[in-house]
This record gives sequence, C-alpha cells and structure tokens, in this order.
Amino acid sequence: MNNKTYWGVIGMGVMGTNLSRNFAKQGIQIALYNRFVRGSEENIALKKSKKYLELNSALTFESLDLFVAALQGPRKILIMLPAGPVVDKIINDLIPLLSKKDILIDGGNSHYKDTEKRSISLSEKGIKFLGIGVSGGEAGALKGPSLMVGGDLKAYQIISKDLVKIAAKDVNGQSCCEYLGSGGAGHYVKMVHNGIEYAEMQLIAEIFEIFLSDADTDFHSIQNLFKSWQNSSSESYLLGISAEILSYKKDSVPYINGILDQASNKGTGAWATASGALIGSPNSLMASALHARLTSSSKSLRKKYSKEYPCMTSNSDTSLPNLKKTYDICRWINHHQGFEMIRQAEDAYKWNINLVKVAQIWSEGCIIKSKLIDQLKLMFQDTNSIMEMNPLKTLVSQGQKEWNDVLIYCIEKGIPTPCISSAWNYFKAITQARSNAYLIQAQRDFFGAHGFELVDQKGDKKIHGPWAGKN
Ligand code: 6PG
Repeated sequence: MNNKTYWGVIGMGVMGTNLSRNFAKQGIQIALYNRFVRGSEENIALKKSKKYLELNSALTFESLDLFVAALQGPRKILIMLPAGPVVDKIINDLIPLLSKKDILIDGGNSHYKDTEKRSISLSEKGIKFLGIGVSGGEAGALKGPSLMVGGDLKAYQIISKDLVKIAAKDVNGQSCCEYLGSGGAGHYVKMVHNGIEYAEMQLIAEIFEIFLSDADTDFHSIQNLFKSWQNSSSESYLLGISAEILSYKKDSVPYINGILDQASNKGTGAWATASGALIGSPNSLMASALHARLTSSSKSLRKKYSKEYPCMTSNSDTSLPNLKKTYDICRWINHHQGFEMIRQAEDAYKWNINLVKVAQIWSEGCIIKSKLIDQLKLMFQDTNSIMEMNPLKTLVSQGQKEWNDVLIYCIEKGIPTPCISSAWNYFKAITQARSNAYLIQAQRDFFGAHGFELVDQKGDKKIHGPWAGKN
C-alpha cells in the first residue's frame, strides 16, 4: 500500500459511487467509505465494490478511523454527501483523524457561504479544503463531469492531475475542470449553473405547453420540432432529453401524462435567486423558474382556484406564432443574467472569475451544455457582456415581433409564461433609457426621507423633495 496513492471517497450515493468508478477507470487507487446504520446502511461500500468490476480492488470501510488510516498522506478525501449539516458533521468527525496538509474536498451541492466558512476554519487547522461543483448528474459523474473548483489553490495544484483525468473533455480535448477562485468560488459558480439550468428547463416547459395549446400539435410533432431545433443553434442537452422524454409511451399514451405536475427542488435555485438579489444582479429568469416550481407545488390550491377562477380566453382563433426565435432570445437573456452574476461576484466577493473558463468547463459534461455555451466560450474572449454580443443583437432585431406575438398569444389563450415574460420584461427594462424609477425615488423620499439625486446634479449628495417636512 505504501507505494500507492489512494483517494478516499465518503458517501456511496449515486454521485459518490459513480465518481469512484470514474476514478477507478482512470487507474486511480480508491478507498470507499459509507457509514454504518444498522438495518438500513450495512456494508454499503463493500457491496458497491462487489457490484462494479472497476471497484473490485477498492478498499472498503464503514469505520472512519480505519478509512482515514488506510490513506497515504497527504490524504485526498472527497466528501459526496447531501448539502447541509451532514457535511459539517463528517468534517468534524474527520478533523481529529487528519494530519496537517491533508486535503478535504466537498463535491456536493453545498452553499458557497458554507464552503467559505469551512475553508476558513479548516485552514486554521492546517487542513486544505476545496469546494467543487460537480455537474452532469449520474451519467456525468461516471463518464466525465464538469468540475468547478474553488478553495485552496495549492491543494488544487496537488490534485488537479487526477481531477483533469476524471472530468469531461470539450471538443478540443481540453478538460472541463478549472480552478475558479478561493473559498466558495466553485460552489458559487455551480449555484449559478443550477439557476441557469432551472430557467432553461422552465423555458422548454413553457414552449412545450404553448405548442400543446395548438389543436394541430401533438406530442409526436412537438418531439419532431424539438429534434429539428437540435440541428440548429438552439441545440442543448436539456432540449435533447426533452425530445427523448416525449417519445416514451405507456399503453399508447405519452408516458409523461401520468406524472404528477408538481416540480420539486433541492434548494440551489432558491440560493441562486437569493444570491443575485443580495448582490444586486438581476436574475429574474431563474427567479421566475423557481417560483413556477413553487407554484406548481400548490396542486390542491391550483385545482380549487381553477374552478373558482375559470380561465377566460379572449381570442381562441389566434394562430400559433413562430416560437423558435422567442426561445432563442430568452435563452440568451437567461445566460446573460447568469454570467452577470458571476462577473459581479468580483465586486461582491473579490473572485474575478474568468468567464471564458466558466463557459469552457460548461461546454461539456454539465447539464446546461449547449451550442450557445460553445458560442459564448469564443465570444467572451472579446467581450464580457452577452448584451454586447452581435448574435443577440441580430436575434432581437429579427425576432422581436414574434416575441411580442408569442406573449399576446399566451395572454389570449391564458397560458402562463413566467420565464418568457420575465425575459421580455427584463429586456424591455434594461433597454429603456428612462425608467419609472424616478417615481420610486420620490416615494421613498416622501415616506422615509431617503433622498435622491437629480438628473442634472453634480456630485452625489442626496437631496429631498418639496414634500419634506410637510407630512
Ligand atoms: C447537475 C444538476 C444536479 C441536480 C441539482 C438540481 O448539474 O448535475 O444541477 O446538481 O440536478 O441538484 O436539483 P433540483 O432540481 O432538485 O434542485
């Protein structure tokens, strides 16, 4: 054992198991740990090593002491556990067993602020810590995920050779694994990835529902349309899986018709939404996508209100407008908001994350990989704002009328379009030279004496309106 370098993986859920298999396939020696819970989690690591050929020679443990003792230093321990207190518990259990210079890595979907705190407290103890956003679901973990790394740079330099081996490769054969910054930078970027993912999924769901509203469009034709879009610049992993999902049937009926219409979430979309709001970076599409999921969860209320407020359609003869341009524009705006959150993290958290690198590691392995990301990877080399990019300008100039038509159609048919409308509202507002905010400023000053600046003011001194002191 002394001549071998072992990686240890904690947590044999789907992601932990598949990442372990990926390491093993790359010829990296691996030790597996899963806790022992009598009756529900017994011999889990051993069972996994027996089940998968590539894990047959892995060491397996359910005693943390023995697991840590078996690893050659500096130890490299990857924690693959659900975000939250479970991660803190395992870190606290590990600390007395570790030596200085050992490297702990959290590969779960942890909140970046938790990662920041853990980085600080572990570095005080001489233990190096990395928070890695891992995207690609179970297939990505096995075949090559996108890895968004943050934390101790020296630790990354020690383990990068192995991470690069297990990560996805882009079209040029370059690994989709990058160090993005200190502390929680990796988990921050993964959180934004998930926010973009929420809106990408919601946009497809909205387009699907709009297509379905047309009497001449059935599942099969929507599937074909999505497939044809896959042969264009609209191509994406999520659109591709959506087309495939539509092909499944049960007893000649589309399989998804039997799925309950309540979308769940594990929290990253809510963190992304809140984080954008807190740093002052508009992220209305991911927020709308999150709220669409939350609203969908109120199934019994929706059923009740659907009877109390029957849907009134104002013009049932309107024909289905062209949806593709609207879909494309909304996706560009969604990505603009997401990448802006990353760019603005420089002011908020001093990370200065390179957008070209982010687009590169999102170009393969992850859930939001797409032709659009490929395009952005090239375009961020010259400009750091998607709003400044010519393809978006062309799309808008050619598709604005259709975009309006889609919204008019949906209003007339009573179809909710949280993300499409959100994109439209954001776009209209961000391209409006004079907004309605001067009235907001006056209101704030009227009731709270908060002050405002005048249009032609020199300097930034706040002044008060003529209503001051009169109420
Ligand atoms: C990924 C995914 C993955 C998972 C999220 C989202 O990049 O592989 O984002 O991390 O799907 O946990 O889950 P929810 O939709 O349940 O929030």
